[in-house]
Amino acid sequence: MNEATLGGRFTFPGTSLTVHRIGYGAMQLAGPGVWGPPRDSDGAVAVLREAVAAGVNHIDTSDFYGPHVTNQIIRQALHPYPTELVIVTKLGGRRPPDKSWQPAISPPELTAGVHDNLRNLGLDTLDIVNYRVIGSGHGPEEGSIAEQVTVLADLRRKGLIRHLGLSNVTAAQLAEAQAITDVVCVQNHYNLAHRHDDALIDDLTRQGIPYVPFFPLGGFSPLQSSTLSAVADRLGSTPMQVALAWLLHRSPNILLIPGTSSVAHLRENLGAGQLMLSPQTLSELEGIAAAAMAVKH
Ligand SMILES: NC(=O)c1ccc[n+]([C@@H]2O[C@H](COP(=O)([O-])OP(=O)(O)OC[C@H]3O[C@@H](n4cnc5c(N)ncnc54)[C@H](OP(=O)(O)O)[C@@H]3O)[C@@H](O)[C@H]2O)c1
Repeated sequence: MNEATLGGRFTFPGTSLTVHRIGYGAMQLAGPGVWGPPRDSDGAVAVLREAVAAGVNHIDTSDFYGPHVTNQIIRQALHPYPTELVIVTKLGGRRPPDKSWQPAISPPELTAGVHDNLRNLGLDTLDIVNYRVIGSGHGPEEGSIAEQVTVLADLRRKGLIRHLGLSNVTAAQLAEAQAITDVVCVQNHYNLAHRHDDALIDDLTRQGIPYVPFFPLGGFSPLQSSTLSAVADRLGSTPMQVALAWLLHRSPNILLIPGTSSVAHLRENLGAGQLMLSPQTLSELEGIAAAAMAVKH
């Protein structure tokens, strides 16, 4: 890391978009279950304003958070947007009234999704859109995504989207998409205890493409580990800061979007950029994934 503040900088490949490696994920700003308005609307606005004031210039969102609510709060809190702010949104899902997460992948649904994002964020062009694959299970599943990526590449040519990324994908789906268009980031589930994407991350490092882990703190059930707590105590930090610092050390192309609805947690998370982990501490933390696997089996 060449900059102590917010983990240094990274430029999305082939773009003029440079962000600090520690950004912010806005999903926690919607109501319980990522549905409806937040319990504390003023608090949600305050978190976003505090993030930007602290130098965050990468915000991850989606119009299916709420639905629409998170984007509307971002607009209320930050529009007109600072020029250096990069808002990354995602398409490919919808939330029916039963609050489930369903695929929305037909050309009309994807096109309508772009217009919904533009309207709710108050933008003429979306900086980066991730095509988020929603399968039948929790993780990525093989299957062609060529049709959806082609639709989004067409919308990009029309000027509604600047750049495309992918979310919840396999290495084969990444390669398939790259044969159609440039892919500027990949957003999959990854953290200290969930390491399925180790090989994919190494491949993206070689390609200079950022890997943006979702659930970097463990998601709806934040990480708990005696090793993590012991390391945090020793360093005078917190377990969440150590979990984020480990990701920053894991690979130079990892960008962070930890989510929180709390200004105090936001400040704590941004502080992770100042934490240096020694090789000995890093190998100690490597044991957490092995322990998590042993519990599952
Ligand atoms: N592409 C996808 O499919 C996908 C899926 C999920 C998420 N995402 C994106 O990834 C972002 C990050 O994921 P996430 O927000 O679900 O999970 P996360 O960042 O791993 O963790 C968020 C959870 O940790 C808590 N938390 C945050 N900071 C904390 C701290 N310092 N101390 C204690 N608890 C803390 C939050 O509660 P508090 O609100 O109380 O702080 C919340 O419950 C999302 O915001 C979203 O933008 C993408």
